[in-house]
Amino acid sequence: MSHEKRNWSKPTLTPHRIGALNKFGSVSGGQCQDTFAGVAIQPLLEKYGSPLFIISEKRLRDNVRKLLRAFETRYGDVTYSWSYKTNYLGAVCNTLHQEGAWAEVVSAFEYEKARALGVPAEKILFNGPHKERPILERVVAEGARIHLDNLDELYLLEDVAKSAGKQVDVTMRLNFDTGYTEPWSRFGFNIESGQAMDAARALGESAQLNLCGLHSHLGTFVLDPRAYASQIRIMCNFMEEVEAQTGCCIESIDIGGGFASMNSLQGTYLPPEQVVPSLDQYAEAICNALNDATRTREQQGKRRPRLIMESGRAIVDDTEILVTSVVANKRMPDGRKSVVIDAGVNLLFTGFWYNHQVTPTRVLEGVPEDTILYGPLCMNIDVMRASVMLPPVNIGDSLVFNQVGAYNNTQWMQFIEYRPNIVMVHVDQTVSVVRAAEDLRVMTAQESIPEHLCSVEMQTKE
Ligand SMILES: Cc1ncc(COP(=O)(O)O)c(C=O)c1O
Repeated sequence: MSHEKRNWSKPTLTPHRIGALNKFGSVSGGQCQDTFAGVAIQPLLEKYGSPLFIISEKRLRDNVRKLLRAFETRYGDVTYSWSYKTNYLGAVCNTLHQEGAWAEVVSAFEYEKARALGVPAEKILFNGPHKERPILERVVAEGARIHLDNLDELYLLEDVAKSAGKQVDVTMRLNFDTGYTEPWSRFGFNIESGQAMDAARALGESAQLNLCGLHSHLGTFVLDPRAYASQIRIMCNFMEEVEAQTGCCIESIDIGGGFASMNSLQGTYLPPEQVVPSLDQYAEAICNALNDATRTREQQGKRRPRLIMESGRAIVDDTEILVTSVVANKRMPDGRKSVVIDAGVNLLFTGFWYNHQVTPTRVLEGVPEDTILYGPLCMNIDVMRASVMLPPVNIGDSLVFNQVGAYNNTQWMQFIEYRPNIVMVHVDQTVSVVRAAEDLRVMTAQESIPEHLCSVEMQTKE
């Protein structure tokens, strides 16, 4: 009998893929999405090109109405202000303004855009940590509400107001720990350290600035409504304290944004249907806390503060899709299937932290397989979905990325490819282009080439 020693070889694990079962045992696949906002997707793609962003005007209107209904039925005095950075396409902003939304802006550009769209200055909240003298001069002259971020800004604004000979109403931005979310402490004045009360006292002594509002923004994709209840209690305590100490009168409490959309955050185990609270659940927690905290104000001869909200992603995420076409199929060295599509992370910035739901526009035949969706960029980072179960696709097939309305048409990058058309499906189901595709003329419009660099003639070597 031979005792020849066998060569050692590295053990391997072979994953068993159980068809299209996901972690909850439900079968994915078989679905297709050939319409959006009541309009067939394929003809739009043929007319406006691929990739293509499509926005539903009706859903935007429905979402903001739903938000206002949820809050106004629970607390009388409510103002909704559209957070421009979430999506500042003119057609999106104006749809929301027509529904009564004010504008919440965080830069000179956003302020100028809101004014150019026709928003009255008194319906603009000017937030953010960077406001330079020229824009503050304009804002003071026009009468928008300024949210103070820091002491240097406070002193600068005081000086601007003095030069303009004006008394300026201001809101203080606050940060604090609710006990439910990681505190965002880089914006505004901190309550726990006493910094916020010091700033409020400085405002109390100012001849130019009049403190009349409090603001805080907890963060984004906040899944626990109790965080907001805690936020309200802390802000209302601060309101009472600051009024007692400085004699100011707080007219509004602005809770910022942060409500989650029905998108799927990477790393979240449960699906959004199970973890994302409804607008009514947020409203219930917030308005109960606000009603409790302000109940006795009227007996004391004081007004209850107006509630201001700046919800971004929860209003716009599900109002927009990105339709993209398959350009190639590829097998990776580890055996995994990959597909190259014509839209990349330059267009879908949120692809870095969401698993956007991807649906084909026709029913795909065949066994679903774990697939990587690569974008068209010649960059390793251009991964639109690292893993999605997808039956075989052909070149030219279209895939829909859902819930792309928030933070993509603002945070997208001009990189390698032209940015495509964005169309809006209106309430009567007509369609119009709300941002035209870029071309070489647009891409080079801001460039100038010095005289001696105008020629590309190459020097020949002797
Ligand atoms: C001050 C402020 N308000 C509102 C928003 C909108 O937040 P979200 O899209 O999470 O609702 C943001 C986003 O960062 C913000 O900074």
